[in-house]
Amino acid sequence: MNNFDLNTLVRPNILKMAPYSSARDEFSGSNMVFLDANENPWETTNNRYPDPKQEALKKAIAEIKGLEVKNIFLGNGSDEAIDIVMRAVGTPGKDNILITQPTYGVYEVSAAINDLDIIRYPLNKNYELDGDELLTFTNQNTRIIFLCSPNNPTANILQKQEVEKVLNHFNGLVVIDEAYIDFSQEKSWSEKLGLYPNLIVLQTLSKGWGLAGLRIGMAYASENIIRILNKIKPPYNISNASQRIALEALSSKRDLVAEQIDRLIEERNKYFSLFSKLPFVKKVFPSEANFLLLEVENTDALYQYLIDQGFVTRKRKGILHCAEGIRFSIGTPEENKNMYEALLNFEGK
Ligand SMILES: Cc1ncc(COP(=O)(O)O)c(C=O)c1O
Repeated sequence: MNNFDLNTLVRPNILKMAPYSSARDEFSGSNMVFLDANENPWETTNNRYPDPKQEALKKAIAEIKGLEVKNIFLGNGSDEAIDIVMRAVGTPGKDNILITQPTYGVYEVSAAINDLDIIRYPLNKNYELDGDELLTFTNQNTRIIFLCSPNNPTANILQKQEVEKVLNHFNGLVVIDEAYIDFSQEKSWSEKLGLYPNLIVLQTLSKGWGLAGLRIGMAYASENIIRILNKIKPPYNISNASQRIALEALSSKRDLVAEQIDRLIEERNKYFSLFSKLPFVKKVFPSEANFLLLEVENTDALYQYLIDQGFVTRKRKGILHCAEGIRFSIGTPEENKNMYEALLNFEGK
Protein backbone atom coordinates (compact mmCIF):
# COMPACT_ATOMS: atom_id res chain seq x y z
CA MET A 1 0.00 0.00 0.00
CA ASN A 2 1.11 3.57 -0.52
CA ASN A 3 1.57 6.54 1.81
CA PHE A 4 -0.71 8.92 -0.02
CA ASP A 5 -1.34 12.11 1.94
CA LEU A 6 -3.15 14.89 0.12
CA ASN A 7 -2.06 17.57 2.58
CA THR A 8 1.62 16.97 1.98
CA LEU A 9 1.09 16.66 -1.77
CA VAL A 10 -0.86 19.88 -2.36
CA ARG A 11 1.35 22.96 -2.73
CA PRO A 12 1.43 24.90 0.58
CA ASN A 13 0.31 28.15 -1.09
CA ILE A 14 -2.79 26.39 -2.40
CA LEU A 15 -3.57 24.82 0.98
CA LYS A 16 -3.21 28.22 2.66
CA MET A 17 -5.07 30.46 0.23
CA ALA A 18 -8.69 31.49 0.62
CA PRO A 19 -10.61 30.85 -2.61
CA TYR A 20 -12.40 33.71 -4.34
CA SER A 21 -15.78 34.05 -2.78
CA SER A 22 -18.27 34.91 -5.48
CA ALA A 23 -21.21 37.17 -4.74
CA ARG A 24 -23.63 34.26 -5.09
CA ASP A 25 -21.74 32.08 -2.58
CA GLU A 26 -22.54 34.35 0.34
CA PHE A 27 -26.30 34.09 0.71
CA SER A 28 -29.14 31.62 0.38
CA GLY A 29 -32.70 32.47 -0.47
CA SER A 30 -34.96 33.00 -3.45
CA ASN A 31 -36.73 35.93 -5.12
CA MET A 32 -33.85 38.24 -4.24
CA VAL A 33 -32.95 41.49 -6.00
CA PHE A 34 -29.39 41.07 -7.19
CA LEU A 35 -27.37 44.23 -6.59
CA ASP A 36 -24.17 42.39 -5.69
CA ALA A 37 -22.19 41.50 -8.79
CA ASN A 38 -22.14 44.68 -10.89
CA GLU A 39 -24.21 43.02 -13.59
CA ASN A 40 -26.52 44.79 -16.02
CA PRO A 41 -29.96 44.55 -14.31
CA TRP A 42 -32.16 44.24 -17.42
CA GLU A 43 -33.10 40.63 -17.87
CA THR A 44 -31.80 38.72 -20.87
CA THR A 45 -30.84 35.06 -20.84
CA ASN A 46 -27.28 36.04 -20.02
CA ASN A 47 -27.20 39.21 -17.92
CA ARG A 48 -26.37 37.23 -14.77
CA TYR A 49 -23.18 35.33 -13.98
CA PRO A 50 -23.47 31.54 -14.20
CA ASP A 51 -23.72 29.26 -11.17
CA PRO A 52 -20.10 28.92 -10.03
CA LYS A 53 -20.86 25.54 -8.45
CA GLN A 54 -22.74 24.23 -11.51
CA GLU A 55 -25.10 22.37 -9.18
CA ALA A 56 -27.89 21.45 -11.59
CA LEU A 57 -25.46 20.14 -14.19
CA LYS A 58 -23.45 18.19 -11.63
CA LYS A 59 -26.64 16.61 -10.31
CA ALA A 60 -27.55 15.40 -13.79
CA ILE A 61 -24.03 14.03 -14.33
CA ALA A 62 -24.03 12.38 -10.90
CA GLU A 63 -27.28 10.61 -11.71
CA ILE A 64 -26.12 9.32 -15.07
CA LYS A 65 -22.70 8.22 -13.79
CA GLY A 66 -23.84 6.81 -10.44
CA LEU A 67 -21.70 9.27 -8.49
CA GLU A 68 -22.27 11.94 -5.88
CA VAL A 69 -22.14 15.66 -6.62
CA LYS A 70 -19.38 16.14 -4.03
CA ASN A 71 -17.11 13.86 -6.08
CA ILE A 72 -17.47 15.87 -9.29
CA PHE A 73 -15.45 18.82 -10.56
CA LEU A 74 -16.33 20.52 -13.84
CA GLY A 75 -13.74 22.15 -16.05
CA ASN A 76 -13.86 24.22 -19.19
CA GLY A 77 -13.15 21.00 -21.07
CA SER A 78 -11.10 18.27 -19.42
CA ASP A 79 -8.10 20.23 -20.68
CA GLU A 80 -8.80 22.76 -17.93
CA ALA A 81 -8.99 19.98 -15.33
CA ILE A 82 -5.58 18.69 -16.49
CA ASP A 83 -4.04 22.12 -15.93
CA ILE A 84 -5.73 22.62 -12.56
CA VAL A 85 -4.58 19.24 -11.22
CA MET A 86 -1.02 20.20 -12.15
CA ARG A 87 -1.33 23.58 -10.44
CA ALA A 88 -2.68 21.91 -7.31
CA VAL A 89 0.29 19.64 -6.64
CA GLY A 90 3.17 20.58 -8.93
CA THR A 91 5.66 23.18 -7.74
CA PRO A 92 7.06 24.92 -10.85
CA GLY A 93 10.77 24.38 -11.44
CA LYS A 94 10.90 21.53 -8.93
CA ASP A 95 8.34 18.77 -9.49
CA ASN A 96 7.60 16.47 -12.38
CA ILE A 97 4.78 14.43 -13.90
CA LEU A 98 4.97 11.03 -15.55
CA ILE A 99 3.24 10.37 -18.85
CA THR A 100 3.21 7.30 -21.05
CA GLN A 101 4.71 7.39 -24.49
CA PRO A 102 2.80 7.84 -26.73
CA THR A 103 -0.17 9.66 -25.25
CA TYR A 104 -2.38 12.76 -25.48
CA GLY A 105 -0.29 15.86 -26.17
CA VAL A 106 -1.95 18.29 -23.76
CA TYR A 107 -0.32 16.72 -20.66
CA GLU A 108 3.05 17.75 -22.01
CA VAL A 109 1.94 21.25 -22.97
CA SER A 110 0.28 21.87 -19.59
CA ALA A 111 3.39 20.59 -17.80
CA ALA A 112 5.55 22.98 -19.85
CA ILE A 113 3.27 25.91 -19.00
CA ASN A 114 3.44 24.99 -15.32
CA ASP A 115 7.24 24.50 -15.51
CA LEU A 116 6.99 20.86 -14.46
CA ASP A 117 9.48 18.32 -15.80
CA ILE A 118 8.17 15.38 -17.78
CA ILE A 119 9.15 11.75 -17.28
CA ARG A 120 8.21 9.55 -20.24
CA TYR A 121 7.44 5.87 -19.74
CA PRO A 122 7.54 3.92 -23.04
CA LEU A 123 4.56 1.61 -23.53
CA ASN A 124 5.36 -1.80 -25.05
CA LYS A 125 4.71 -2.82 -28.66
CA ASN A 126 1.03 -3.42 -27.93
CA TYR A 127 0.89 -0.08 -26.13
CA GLU A 128 0.45 -1.78 -22.77
CA LEU A 129 2.22 -0.91 -19.55
CA ASP A 130 4.01 -2.84 -16.84
CA GLY A 131 2.93 -1.22 -13.57
CA ASP A 132 6.02 -2.22 -11.58
CA GLU A 133 8.35 -1.03 -14.31
CA LEU A 134 6.49 2.27 -14.69
CA LEU A 135 6.86 2.95 -10.96
CA THR A 136 10.66 2.62 -11.24
CA PHE A 137 10.59 5.68 -13.55
CA THR A 138 9.19 7.91 -10.79
CA ASN A 139 11.24 9.81 -8.20
CA GLN A 140 10.52 11.78 -5.03
CA ASN A 141 9.43 14.82 -7.08
CA THR A 142 6.91 12.94 -9.22
CA ARG A 143 3.52 14.37 -8.34
CA ILE A 144 1.15 12.99 -10.97
CA ILE A 145 1.00 9.94 -13.23
CA PHE A 146 -1.23 10.41 -16.27
CA LEU A 147 -2.74 7.22 -17.71
CA CYS A 148 -5.01 7.63 -20.70
CA SER A 149 -7.44 4.75 -21.23
CA PRO A 150 -8.53 4.31 -23.99
CA ASN A 151 -5.27 5.96 -24.92
CA ASN A 152 -4.98 8.68 -27.53
CA PRO A 153 -3.59 8.09 -30.19
CA THR A 154 -3.21 4.32 -29.75
CA ALA A 155 -6.93 3.65 -29.01
CA ASN A 156 -6.39 0.76 -26.56
CA ILE A 157 -7.52 0.29 -22.96
CA LEU A 158 -4.73 -0.05 -20.38
CA GLN A 159 -4.88 -3.37 -18.52
CA LYS A 160 -6.64 -3.27 -15.19
CA GLN A 161 -4.09 -5.22 -13.11
CA GLU A 162 -1.22 -3.00 -14.23
CA VAL A 163 -3.15 0.20 -13.51
CA GLU A 164 -4.06 -1.20 -10.09
CA LYS A 165 -0.37 -1.69 -9.29
CA VAL A 166 0.24 1.97 -10.06
CA LEU A 167 -2.72 3.09 -7.94
CA ASN A 168 -1.66 0.87 -5.05
CA HIS A 169 1.98 1.89 -4.92
CA PHE A 170 2.24 5.51 -6.03
CA ASN A 171 2.13 8.22 -3.37
CA GLY A 172 1.08 10.98 -5.73
CA LEU A 173 -2.04 11.46 -7.84
CA VAL A 174 -2.98 9.01 -10.59
CA VAL A 175 -5.07 10.66 -13.27
CA ILE A 176 -6.92 8.21 -15.52
CA ASP A 177 -8.15 10.06 -18.58
CA GLU A 178 -11.28 8.36 -19.92
CA ALA A 179 -12.18 10.85 -22.66
CA TYR A 180 -13.08 7.89 -24.94
CA ILE A 181 -14.67 5.55 -22.38
CA ASP A 182 -18.11 5.75 -24.04
CA PHE A 183 -16.71 3.81 -27.02
CA SER A 184 -15.25 1.01 -24.90
CA GLN A 185 -16.71 -2.09 -23.27
CA GLU A 186 -14.63 -1.44 -20.16
CA LYS A 187 -16.11 -0.06 -16.97
CA SER A 188 -15.06 3.36 -15.76
CA TRP A 189 -12.45 3.60 -13.00
CA SER A 190 -14.86 6.01 -11.30
CA GLU A 191 -16.44 2.93 -9.70
CA LYS A 192 -13.21 2.53 -7.73
CA LEU A 193 -12.99 6.02 -6.25
CA GLY A 194 -13.76 4.67 -2.79
CA LEU A 195 -10.79 2.29 -2.97
CA TYR A 196 -8.15 4.73 -4.17
CA PRO A 197 -7.80 8.13 -2.46
CA ASN A 198 -5.11 9.11 -5.01
CA LEU A 199 -7.36 8.51 -8.05
CA ILE A 200 -8.74 11.20 -10.35
CA VAL A 201 -10.85 10.09 -13.32
CA LEU A 202 -11.32 12.47 -16.23
CA GLN A 203 -14.22 12.28 -18.63
CA THR A 204 -15.69 14.75 -21.08
CA LEU A 205 -18.89 15.68 -22.91
CA SER A 206 -16.76 16.40 -26.00
CA LYS A 207 -16.63 12.92 -27.53
CA GLY A 208 -19.52 10.46 -27.02
CA TRP A 209 -21.94 13.21 -26.03
CA GLY A 210 -21.13 15.30 -29.10
CA LEU A 211 -20.72 18.57 -27.19
CA ALA A 212 -17.08 19.51 -27.90
CA GLY A 213 -18.11 23.10 -28.62
CA LEU A 214 -19.53 23.61 -25.12
CA ARG A 215 -16.22 22.82 -23.38
CA ILE A 216 -17.30 20.67 -20.44
CA GLY A 217 -14.97 18.14 -18.86
CA MET A 218 -15.44 16.20 -15.63
CA ALA A 219 -12.98 15.18 -12.95
CA TYR A 220 -14.19 12.57 -10.44
CA ALA A 221 -12.25 12.16 -7.20
CA SER A 222 -12.48 12.14 -3.41
CA GLU A 223 -14.30 15.04 -1.83
CA ASN A 224 -10.97 16.39 -0.52
CA ILE A 225 -9.37 16.45 -3.96
CA ILE A 226 -12.46 18.04 -5.50
CA ARG A 227 -12.38 20.78 -2.84
CA ILE A 228 -8.81 21.65 -3.82
CA LEU A 229 -9.62 21.75 -7.55
CA ASN A 230 -12.61 24.00 -6.88
CA LYS A 231 -10.38 26.38 -4.95
CA ILE A 232 -8.14 26.87 -7.96
CA LYS A 233 -10.65 27.11 -10.82
CA PRO A 234 -11.78 30.49 -12.13
CA PRO A 235 -15.08 31.16 -10.31
CA TYR A 236 -17.28 31.20 -13.42
CA ASN A 237 -15.43 28.67 -15.57
CA ILE A 238 -18.52 27.18 -17.25
CA SER A 239 -20.74 29.69 -19.04
CA ASN A 240 -24.51 29.97 -18.61
CA ALA A 241 -25.07 28.78 -22.16
CA SER A 242 -22.82 25.75 -21.70
CA GLN A 243 -24.47 24.71 -18.44
CA ARG A 244 -27.95 25.11 -19.88
CA ILE A 245 -27.33 23.32 -23.19
CA ALA A 246 -25.44 20.48 -21.48
CA LEU A 247 -28.26 20.00 -19.00
CA GLU A 248 -30.80 19.84 -21.80
CA ALA A 249 -28.70 17.28 -23.67
CA LEU A 250 -28.18 15.12 -20.58
CA SER A 251 -31.90 15.01 -19.89
CA SER A 252 -33.32 14.67 -23.41
CA LYS A 253 -30.63 13.21 -25.70
CA ARG A 254 -29.53 10.07 -23.87
CA ASP A 255 -31.16 7.68 -26.31
CA LEU A 256 -29.94 9.57 -29.36
CA VAL A 257 -26.39 9.68 -28.00
CA ALA A 258 -26.43 5.95 -27.18
CA GLU A 259 -27.59 5.22 -30.72
CA GLN A 260 -24.89 7.44 -32.23
CA ILE A 261 -22.23 5.75 -30.12
CA ASP A 262 -23.42 2.30 -31.27
CA ARG A 263 -23.21 3.40 -34.88
CA LEU A 264 -19.74 4.85 -34.41
CA ILE A 265 -18.57 1.59 -32.83
CA GLU A 266 -20.09 -0.39 -35.71
CA GLU A 267 -18.38 1.85 -38.26
CA ARG A 268 -15.09 1.65 -36.36
CA ASN A 269 -15.19 -2.15 -36.41
CA LYS A 270 -16.11 -2.24 -40.08
CA TYR A 271 -13.27 0.08 -41.12
CA PHE A 272 -10.81 -1.67 -38.82
CA SER A 273 -11.23 -4.70 -41.12
CA LEU A 274 -11.41 -2.77 -44.39
CA PHE A 275 -8.37 -0.57 -43.66
CA SER A 276 -6.37 -3.66 -42.64
CA LYS A 277 -6.69 -4.97 -46.21
CA LEU A 278 -5.39 -1.84 -47.94
CA PRO A 279 -1.99 -2.51 -49.54
CA PHE A 280 -0.29 0.59 -48.13
CA VAL A 281 -1.49 -0.09 -44.57
CA LYS A 282 1.01 -2.04 -42.47
CA LYS A 283 -1.14 -2.20 -39.37
CA VAL A 284 -4.42 -0.97 -37.91
CA PHE A 285 -4.25 -0.83 -34.15
CA PRO A 286 -7.23 -2.37 -32.30
CA SER A 287 -9.51 0.42 -31.10
CA GLU A 288 -11.83 0.98 -28.16
CA ALA A 289 -12.25 4.63 -29.10
CA ASN A 290 -13.89 6.64 -31.90
CA PHE A 291 -10.74 6.71 -34.01
CA LEU A 292 -8.32 4.33 -35.69
CA LEU A 293 -4.54 4.58 -35.70
CA LEU A 294 -2.96 3.24 -38.88
CA GLU A 295 0.67 2.49 -39.55
CA VAL A 296 1.25 3.21 -43.22
CA GLU A 297 4.12 3.36 -45.74
CA ASN A 298 4.31 7.13 -45.92
CA THR A 299 2.26 9.40 -43.64
CA ASP A 300 3.00 12.65 -45.47
CA ALA A 301 2.04 11.32 -48.90
CA LEU A 302 -1.21 9.81 -47.63
CA TYR A 303 -2.10 12.86 -45.55
CA GLN A 304 -1.55 15.22 -48.51
CA TYR A 305 -3.52 12.96 -50.84
CA LEU A 306 -6.46 12.97 -48.43
CA ILE A 307 -6.29 16.76 -48.04
CA ASP A 308 -6.43 17.08 -51.83
CA GLN A 309 -9.52 14.85 -51.77
CA GLY A 310 -11.14 17.03 -49.07
CA PHE A 311 -10.48 14.87 -45.97
CA VAL A 312 -8.59 16.16 -42.93
CA THR A 313 -6.93 13.49 -40.82
CA ARG A 314 -4.33 13.67 -38.07
CA LYS A 315 -0.67 13.02 -38.88
CA ARG A 316 0.96 10.94 -36.16
CA LYS A 317 4.54 10.62 -37.36
CA GLY A 318 7.44 9.43 -35.28
CA ILE A 319 5.39 7.97 -32.45
CA LEU A 320 6.84 5.04 -30.53
CA HIS A 321 6.29 1.70 -32.37
CA CYS A 322 4.55 3.50 -35.25
CA ALA A 323 6.92 5.85 -37.07
CA GLU A 324 4.57 6.43 -40.02
CA GLY A 325 1.24 6.87 -38.27
CA ILE A 326 -2.01 8.53 -39.26
CA ARG A 327 -5.15 8.81 -37.16
CA PHE A 328 -8.69 8.78 -38.53
CA SER A 329 -11.68 9.90 -36.49
CA ILE A 330 -14.78 7.84 -37.28
CA GLY A 331 -17.22 10.06 -39.17
CA THR A 332 -20.79 9.48 -40.33
CA PRO A 333 -21.32 6.31 -42.39
CA GLU A 334 -21.41 8.44 -45.54
CA GLU A 335 -18.21 10.33 -44.69
CA ASN A 336 -16.44 7.06 -43.91
CA LYS A 337 -17.59 5.47 -47.13
CA ASN A 338 -16.44 8.44 -49.22
CA MET A 339 -13.09 8.52 -47.46
CA TYR A 340 -12.60 4.79 -47.93
CA GLU A 341 -13.38 5.11 -51.64
CA ALA A 342 -10.75 7.83 -51.87
CA LEU A 343 -8.28 5.52 -50.12
CA LEU A 344 -8.95 2.78 -52.69
CA ASN A 345 -7.62 5.16 -55.34
CA PHE A 346 -4.50 6.21 -53.45
CA GLU A 347 -1.51 6.00 -55.80
CA GLY A 348 0.81 5.06 -52.98
CA LYS A 349 -0.80 1.62 -52.90
C1 LIG B 1 -7.32 11.82 -24.14
C2 LIG B 1 -7.97 13.14 -24.20
N1 LIG B 1 -8.23 13.79 -23.05
C3 LIG B 1 -8.82 14.98 -23.06
C4 LIG B 1 -9.18 15.59 -24.24
C5 LIG B 1 -9.78 16.96 -24.19
O1 LIG B 1 -11.10 16.92 -23.95
P1 LIG B 1 -11.95 18.24 -23.68
O2 LIG B 1 -12.62 18.56 -24.96
O3 LIG B 1 -12.90 17.84 -22.60
O4 LIG B 1 -11.00 19.33 -23.24
C6 LIG B 1 -8.95 14.95 -25.45
C7 LIG B 1 -9.32 15.61 -26.72
O5 LIG B 1 -8.99 15.22 -27.79
C8 LIG B 1 -8.31 13.70 -25.43
O6 LIG B 1 -8.04 13.05 -26.56
